[in-house]
Amino acid sequence: MKSNIKRSYGQHPIKPFKDIAFWALLKTLWPYLLIHKARVVIAMLCLVGAIGVSVAMPWALKGLVDALDNDMGKALVIPLGFVLLYGGMRFGSVFLDELRDSVFSRVTESAMRKVGLEVFAHLHRLELDFHLSRQTGGISRDIDRGTNGINFMMRFMVFNILPTLVQLGIIIVILLWAFNIWFSLITLACVVSYIVFSVITTEWRTGFVKEANRLDSQSSTRAIDSLLNYETVKYFNNEAFETEQYNVNLQAWEQARVNNRLSLALLNSGQALIIGVGLTALMYLAAQGVVDGTMTLGDLVMVNAYLLQLFIPLGALGFIYREIRRAMSDVENMFDLLKRQPAVLDVVQAPALQVTQAAVEFVKVDFAYQPERPILKNLSFKVAPGHKVAIVGPSGSGKSTIGRLLFRFYDVQSGRILIDQQPVDQVQQLSLRQQIGVVPQDTVLFNDTIWNNIAYGRPDASDEEVWQAIEMAHLRAFIGSLPKGVETLVGERGLKVSGGEKQRIAIARVLLKNPPILLFDEATSALDSVAERSILQALAEIAKQRTTLVIAHRLSTIVDADDILVIDQGELVEQGTHQQLLAAQGHYARLWYMQQQQD
Ligand SMILES: Nc1ncnc2c1ncn2[C@@H]1O[C@H](COP(=O)(O)OP(=O)(O)OP(=O)(O)O)[C@@H](O)[C@H]1O
Ligand SMILES: [Mg+2]
Repeated sequence: MKSNIKRSYGQHPIKPFKDIAFWALLKTLWPYLLIHKARVVIAMLCLVGAIGVSVAMPWALKGLVDALDNDMGKALVIPLGFVLLYGGMRFGSVFLDELRDSVFSRVTESAMRKVGLEVFAHLHRLELDFHLSRQTGGISRDIDRGTNGINFMMRFMVFNILPTLVQLGIIIVILLWAFNIWFSLITLACVVSYIVFSVITTEWRTGFVKEANRLDSQSSTRAIDSLLNYETVKYFNNEAFETEQYNVNLQAWEQARVNNRLSLALLNSGQALIIGVGLTALMYLAAQGVVDGTMTLGDLVMVNAYLLQLFIPLGALGFIYREIRRAMSDVENMFDLLKRQPAVLDVVQAPALQVTQAAVEFVKVDFAYQPERPILKNLSFKVAPGHKVAIVGPSGSGKSTIGRLLFRFYDVQSGRILIDQQPVDQVQQLSLRQQIGVVPQDTVLFNDTIWNNIAYGRPDASDEEVWQAIEMAHLRAFIGSLPKGVETLVGERGLKVSGGEKQRIAIARVLLKNPPILLFDEATSALDSVAERSILQALAEIAKQRTTLVIAHRLSTIVDADDILVIDQGELVEQGTHQQLLAAQGHYARLWYMQQQQD
């Protein structure tokens, strides 16, 4: 058994109630309610109306019973008025509830949409590092849960807990006013013990629920990860191992669900017992009253109706209490995401980058992803306007990092990066990124058509321009060979086209973007020599009027560069043209002869 493979999948736990900043949460949500003031007011009126109607209903019932009771033995006339009143009220209370829900749903749905949108936009503002460290799928689950949590909180707090409490108050007052104090006391004691029991038991049950949820999301994340790695699983013949792992997770989940169900049974039975005892006591009192002649039959029916009315919403209390807690915790997790400050920010009133010549300069740049491990050390170089500069060096020496810094995915620890004498960290990020076209080392495509992936470079480009980019990236023949042509779907992350085709699509879309500064990070590494040569020719044409940075392993592709930087462990160790570097007989020359030999 390959049990030494341990993959871990984190997720947010449900926070304890005391840790939830309840009022802060309400304050955050409040503005979303205020957007639709009229709707909120109408919904509240419906709510008040519904409470009024449902509180009056048992009175109508009492009237009906008493009328019948008094008529006993005499000519039996149906007290039609009470019957109609009772029926009308029942319809009225349900209708008002429905009206309230339909009026209010616009409020909750739009709050869900607005918050979801805000989080989405915010996620795109957050720095690259955040996105590299996050857990796949975890964030989208957070947003999903958070927005649903908002919906739940708004609807249940306002329309379930609040009215139940109000109704409770009114009923107790009515009982107090109509009968002796015992009715109110018993009802109150019953409701209080019911609530206390529900909260305590729910609190205890949360452990089981949490465990079941955790195992649920663990087993599904595990299953998804396993399916995403379909090829890897096959390469290493680990189907049985994956299935076994999944089964282990599922078994734990099964047990947690069973525990969860048992604890629910306990909760429900306990609640039923409290209600039963309370009802028995009250009915006994009422029956006694009828026997003594202090109460009518109608009174007894009314007491019973009130109690049922009270206990039905209370029955859901355990569930609602738990769900509200969960909802609050989810909403808070989502808002935490919103509160997260992007690490790379525009300075206040940053001007737009003005590119006239597209000169690039690195001045004594020090950079580290983590403070303990410096990546670039005191790096200085210049790219003159319109020049092509190549960066070469061993794997892991920091070449791609240079590109990421120029694009300002990260801020440097010290030193400056300038474009036409303007520091990249002093201008608007958007304006900076508009001026730079990047073909990254690992191109990832959207799961969309080839056409849309290319047109993404400049969505407002004309069809002709897109075709031109396709031509320049030498994609025409490939596209011509596809039955569906440019409408072919490239599959998830572009996995249904070859590595070289993917690179050419990436090149085409950068050509379409057509910025004054270009950065190619191993942009032709996956191409065969013939395709590479013709693309390089096309690129050389384009690069003539542009400032170009090329990162390459194959030195033959960069012999024509105006300047070549040799980087080793984040330091600039050599610099010059191809001829100069060969003459210097250093790193570059050694690498060159080695590659020549291989060829
Ligand atoms: N986000 C990151 N967090 C921490 N370390 C990183 C991160 N990205 C890269 N590194 C490390 O920084 C170093 C330089 O990475 P970089 O991608 O710049 O190398 P490279 O020169 O482009 O290598 P290659 O030729 O293999 O593409 C590597 O050792 C890498 O492990
Ligand atoms: Mg790299």
